[in-house]
Amino acid sequence: DWTMEAFVDKEVARIRKLVGEKGQVIGAVSGGVDSTVAAKLMHEAIGDRFHAVMVDNGVLRKDEAKQVKETLTKGLGVNLTVVDASDRFLGLLKGVSDPEKKRKIIGNTFIDIFEEEAKKLAKEAENSPRAGPIEFFLQGTLYPDVIESISFKGPSQTIKTHHNVGGLPEKMNLKLIEPLRELFKDEVRAMGTNLGIPSDLVWRHPFPGPGLAIRIIGEVTPEKVRIVQEADLIFIEEIRNAGLYRKISQAFAALMDGKSVGVVGDQRLHGHIIALRAVVTTDFMTANYFRFDYDVMDKIIERIGNEVQGVVRVLYEMTSKPPSTIEFE
Ligand code: XMP
Repeated sequence: DWTMEAFVDKEVARIRKLVGEKGQVIGAVSGGVDSTVAAKLMHEAIGDRFHAVMVDNGVLRKDEAKQVKETLTKGLGVNLTVVDASDRFLGLLKGVSDPEKKRKIIGNTFIDIFEEEAKKLAKEAENSPRAGPIEFFLQGTLYPDVIESISFKGPSQTIKTHHNVGGLPEKMNLKLIEPLRELFKDEVRAMGTNLGIPSDLVWRHPFPGPGLAIRIIGEVTPEKVRIVQEADLIFIEEIRNAGLYRKISQAFAALMDGKSVGVVGDQRLHGHIIALRAVVTTDFMTANYFRFDYDVMDKIIERIGNEVQGVVRVLYEMTSKPPSTIEFE
């Protein structure tokens, strides 16, 4: 007779046994549901011997690093280090407009920074009287990822590169620990609820590892990041106000490449173009656009035009996937 409570208890016991009395574990958190549930589970099992690391790559949603820190440390008691590497990422992204190059830069830099942080924590662990060395790496792999990577790469390799940490555990000589590997997404959400994770976070839309960098077409600049963050915040806020957040699978603002003419006050202004995307999907392989009521849409577009400085045009994207993708790059 399977219950979530029993599964959590069993998994906590398994982690304790695997890690031992003094063993320590490191893992990356993103603020998404999978990594948060995995982190909370580790905390339940081994307390502060689990070290969560969040890297602020400068292309997160507005105030996201701050909010994740608040939720994980104050709310859930997880031992978390936030590394603000915004300047480093934005510096490396300067002048780069190719989508795959942006992904590579962000992925590789993430690995470098995580590794640097892991080395620091390993040093501290050496000097800790109550705990042993860091031997394990937590990964929030779900059952569908396990299946997918087995079928793509053969059973010996089960790390998906889009999790942003491809190759990292091997490189750092750490053993993998994957407490969610038997679960589907809905079960992870149920577990999150069971573990006391706030429902806003449990039902959060997915957010890509490369973040806003793939929602800014062309070169990423701090100014463009600010514009897309502000527009996105308004879009999501109004979706929540209208009670539509859970009806939509993923929604976000993107910034188009190039400029367009508009009027602000009595001045013609050469400004930016925001595109909004909201999709409904079950598997993210195909998707349809969400049909907003015009009055909800009016409010969203009016607010973005009035409140986000430098934006003169707001578009709503109605292409299905395929031929479009969900993200713009
Ligand atoms: P697309 O744009 O391919 O997106 O229709 C499907 C889903 O995957 C997410 N996505 C990514 N996630 N790294 C990620 O971690 C990536 O490079 C990436 N590209 C797309 C996207 O947000 C959507 O949920």
